[in-house]
Amino acid sequence: MEISRKFFGKTKDGFNVYAFTLKNSLGNYITLLNYGATVQSIVIKDASGAGRDICLGYDTLNAYENNDGYLGACIGRVGNRIGKGIFTLNNISYQLAKNDGDNHLHGGNKGFDKYVFDVSTFGNAITFSRVSPDGEENYPGSLKVSVTYTFNDDNQFILDYHAVSDKDTIVNLTNHTYFNLSGEGDNDISDHLLQLNAAYFTANDQACLPTGEILPVSGSALDFRLPKTIGQDINLNEQQLINAGGYDHNYVLDGQGMRQIAAVSSPKTHLSLKVYTDKPGVQFYSGNFLTKRTGKSGSSYMKRSGFCLETQYFPNALACPDFPSPILRTGEEYHFTTIYEFSN
Ligand code: GAL
Repeated sequence: MEISRKFFGKTKDGFNVYAFTLKNSLGNYITLLNYGATVQSIVIKDASGAGRDICLGYDTLNAYENNDGYLGACIGRVGNRIGKGIFTLNNISYQLAKNDGDNHLHGGNKGFDKYVFDVSTFGNAITFSRVSPDGEENYPGSLKVSVTYTFNDDNQFILDYHAVSDKDTIVNLTNHTYFNLSGEGDNDISDHLLQLNAAYFTANDQACLPTGEILPVSGSALDFRLPKTIGQDINLNEQQLINAGGYDHNYVLDGQGMRQIAAVSSPKTHLSLKVYTDKPGVQFYSGNFLTKRTGKSGSSYMKRSGFCLETQYFPNALACPDFPSPILRTGEEYHFTTIYEFSN
């Protein structure tokens, strides 16, 4: 296992950003940036031995700073949406930024995706950490947060999240990698076969905000309990799909503790991804809002060029009494792990 480091650029406010590459003994590698603790590339050999870069990203820091879409980034403090940007904790109401129509999204105006993290490396792992000060984006508590990325010889990319706060607060960290198992730049993930171990999902309103209702996937386009292509039902005339322009839903994952929650494969490269997590939910997002842009090595990205499987607490949880609580009490430890495992 090797970790190498290369200068990637300087942020607008003068911080140095480096690209760190974790290479395993099979010759597969993952490149990470201390800007946003971002996953910049994931290169896995297909059965013929050719390396395929299977995540969307950019070649320049400037592109990361100027584009939307959160490509590959660590999302915090709270991933996904909070209705009207308001939550109440210990009888105090907090008004967060409304940066997605009337709602708060992915940590606000300047989420973790836009910060430069501290770095430490050991063995085959790299830890990105930062202290999010009390009141940052109006969230309470000074939050010490870290994400450790490990890439092992079983082609498992392990994302291990820790956080601790000096005041009661809410936390929901995730990663926003857009995968395309046919190789980034191959423009449609509709042909990918997906299986999701979830019998229920949280219903959305027209702004993709969970209403609090938990519905069975059975009999709807959202049912991925048996493998089917992402594209098979995506254009059905169902209100949940119309609301989001495709899939953009929180699935209520079956079971508890660390378990396999999803499997995806490309019919073109036969590369596959299995996802494991100990979190309660996953946002399956079919890249509906991804606008046209230029990615790595001149690739062009657009709607459906990638899909995300963002492991998480259910969005809008404080407004929805049946959802697991994302509250982190003073001094308690937030600790979750997600594994993306690749094979050819
Ligand atoms: C996803 C979210 C989408 C969209 C996207 C960023 O996590 O579910 O609705 O906001 O992030 O463009």
